[in-house]
Amino acid sequence: MGAVEMRSLLDERESRFPLDLAVRIPKIRELYRTATARQWDPLTAIAWDDLHPENYTAEQLQAARLYWSRRAWGEYGAISESPALQIRFCQQRHEPDLRFFFAIRTQEEARHAEACYLLAEKLGGYIHEPMKTEFQGSVATHGVRRMALDLDMPLEATIGSLVCAAEEIAFDVFGHLIRVTRNPVARRVLQLIMRDEVRHCAFGWAYMEKRVTELTPKQLKDVEDAVVVMIEKIEMNGYHSAWLGPDTPATRNETAADRLTYEAGLGATVEEAEKPVFVKSVKRIRKRMQAWGFTLKQFSHPKIEGAF
Ligand SMILES: [Fe+2]
Ligand SMILES: [Fe+2]
Repeated sequence: MGAVEMRSLLDERESRFPLDLAVRIPKIRELYRTATARQWDPLTAIAWDDLHPENYTAEQLQAARLYWSRRAWGEYGAISESPALQIRFCQQRHEPDLRFFFAIRTQEEARHAEACYLLAEKLGGYIHEPMKTEFQGSVATHGVRRMALDLDMPLEATIGSLVCAAEEIAFDVFGHLIRVTRNPVARRVLQLIMRDEVRHCAFGWAYMEKRVTELTPKQLKDVEDAVVVMIEKIEMNGYHSAWLGPDTPATRNETAADRLTYEAGLGATVEEAEKPVFVKSVKRIRKRMQAWGFTLKQFSHPKIEGAF
């Protein structure tokens, strides 16, 4: 805890009436409708019998179990950030469309966690928590739950950085994962998750498109700063991709497991394959955010040649 206490939304008095359910952002209401129509059940939407774990070595299965367990832990993070944002939408009476959409978004993140969990189970067993010494560093948090409740941080900074930067990068990596994953069950899980994530990203851009013109210069700067922090301090610190993280025993273990999983075609990717995807993604995000009124700075990383 720093010296300055955060002004938290949870300390404010709650007033939710009169209840406003009108359509304010039609694009987001439409995403909500699509989401309700496109629900899927991890138990039945995937032909689990096509997994054939017997075709893999014990080492490959162990690596893939870790990989899919880690994916489940990551999805779990999304399940818990969603309600924090939901509280903010309700309590500050943001456009009702946001509340509708996020009710479904939370369910979708839970479904993603379940699908990853089931796959880890079928590969030999879901791993309940990071190994204390080896994987501790790998389950970082990006601080979104805290940011969502911080009254001095505009909501747009959270949506801009969490959705239009972090989820957008994750989305591009999903596309890449689907291209390199040969096992039909692992690929199907990735495809189903991506089908939802496309809406999660669209939500962020639709919301920001509506809001950017109404922001003060100071608020817009907060958005830009939050996006930079997300890319530079969270993503480029290995939040999603271990190889981007600092060189520690935990990182080395994780990247080794990723490589085995990738080579087996059971999911995951590796530094040399993901690097161009990541760089392209950041450049695309920078270009798209220019419509918001700023140009993101150039980034650099010891493992990536040249600024990007
Ligand atoms: Fe997800
Ligand atoms: Fe998501």
